[in-house]
Amino acid sequence: MRITIFGTGYVGLVTGACLAEVGNDVLCLDVDAGKLARLEAGDIPIFEPGLAPLVRENRQAGRLAFSGDAARGVAHAEVIFIAVGTPPDEDGSADLSHVLAVARSIGAHLTRPVVVVNKSTVPVGTADRVRKAIAAELATRGVVVAFEVVSNPEFLKEGDAVNDCLRPDRIVIGSDSEHAVAQLRRLYAPFNRNHERIVVMDVRSAELTKYAANAMLATKISFMNEMANIAERVGADIEQVRRGIGSDPRIGYHFIYAGAGYGGSCFPKDVNALDRTAREHGYRPRLLEAVEAVNAAQKGRVHELMRGHFGSLRGRRFALWGLAFKPNTDDMREAASRTLLERLWADGALVRAWDPEALAETRRIYGERDDLVLCTDPWSALEGTDALVVMTEWKAFRSPDFARIRSALSEPVIFDGRNMYEPQVVEEAGLAYYGIGRGRSVAAPA
Ligand code: UDX
Repeated sequence: MRITIFGTGYVGLVTGACLAEVGNDVLCLDVDAGKLARLEAGDIPIFEPGLAPLVRENRQAGRLAFSGDAARGVAHAEVIFIAVGTPPDEDGSADLSHVLAVARSIGAHLTRPVVVVNKSTVPVGTADRVRKAIAAELATRGVVVAFEVVSNPEFLKEGDAVNDCLRPDRIVIGSDSEHAVAQLRRLYAPFNRNHERIVVMDVRSAELTKYAANAMLATKISFMNEMANIAERVGADIEQVRRGIGSDPRIGYHFIYAGAGYGGSCFPKDVNALDRTAREHGYRPRLLEAVEAVNAAQKGRVHELMRGHFGSLRGRRFALWGLAFKPNTDDMREAASRTLLERLWADGALVRAWDPEALAETRRIYGERDDLVLCTDPWSALEGTDALVVMTEWKAFRSPDFARIRSALSEPVIFDGRNMYEPQVVEEAGLAYYGIGRGRSVAAPA
């Protein structure tokens, strides 16, 4: 099929490359000329495993192209995806200006029937607004063209997005038009093999499904962080509790890891936006409020543990392993490492940091500073420091040489914000250990 995707951000680019991979003719549009030039030159602006070769091969095969020309994009397509950003407004609700600008642009150029698919994460009711914006443009031009607006939220995880797109758990299609559903079933048929993954529902339910999924996952994390904080105080170990509850299939083992709090581009933004939507409709979402409050406190937990251990942090030097909000990405949006860095600097401490992918992003965000040294490998980060802090669970950090860490540190202690290590193993290597909710090894904080 002929597909046009508005927005070459994270979602648009991954979706475009995957749809091209299964044989569609995909045109990706963006208003950012600089970004288009980079993409044309084969330079992928984001770090996402498997994406660069997928884009390269599909461009070479002539199935994937980039353009800044909206008229060409609209003329090209049987199906148009809207995959532009919905950044938070000042009050936390999603800013729809980019989505509605694309809708107007579709209305301004449409000449033959098309299915418009909303992939951006947008508040309930947005499909109606997109429909109205397109219709208003068509009316201004005095033309009549049939079109449908469908909600088809994405469920891509950063670091595993290509896989999520090629092998989705589910494909949610929100539409009351049989024709639109049939078109999308055809488009998604290559991804819907072995068993039925397509879930068809009304538009508003599809829009809410996206928020409900992310809010549920964020709730699981905040719940476990709350349990961890209780475990610390009562002398229990959250890692053992995790295994104990995960064995119940109704609870499950996934997404119940306590840690330094969730970050990223989705959970913080979407939980907040859903909270806003609920309030706008006269409902106070007490559970969502608590999920956010627990997470905000949790992002400060490692810093609290460090203060508890050292007292004043002024003049201290710390090695920090892990800056990205999670492994396999260079994304630092809402990362717990940022809360930690900013608190350590406010306390007058210096940080020597290492991350396999996010050093350039850290430099972009914080620039050159006297109290931050970006290191070229994990061992140089340890040089001349008092203690080691781990904030992202990169695989490469899983099994370090603890004896070497101990000899590099002036104070042999590890603060493990992701519960990567077994306290006993670390302690046997002669280091003190602080994890999240590992009461066995950590004195309860005041
Ligand atoms: C998330 C959803 O998983 C995805 O389906 C949606 O489309 C977008 O939002 P992403 O933001 O890429 O994806 O990251 P994810 O892997 O879900 O992790 C989010 C955060 O939660 C990370 O900071 C991670 O460290 C943290 N986390 C995750 C925990 O603290 N504990 C867990 O058990 C799982």
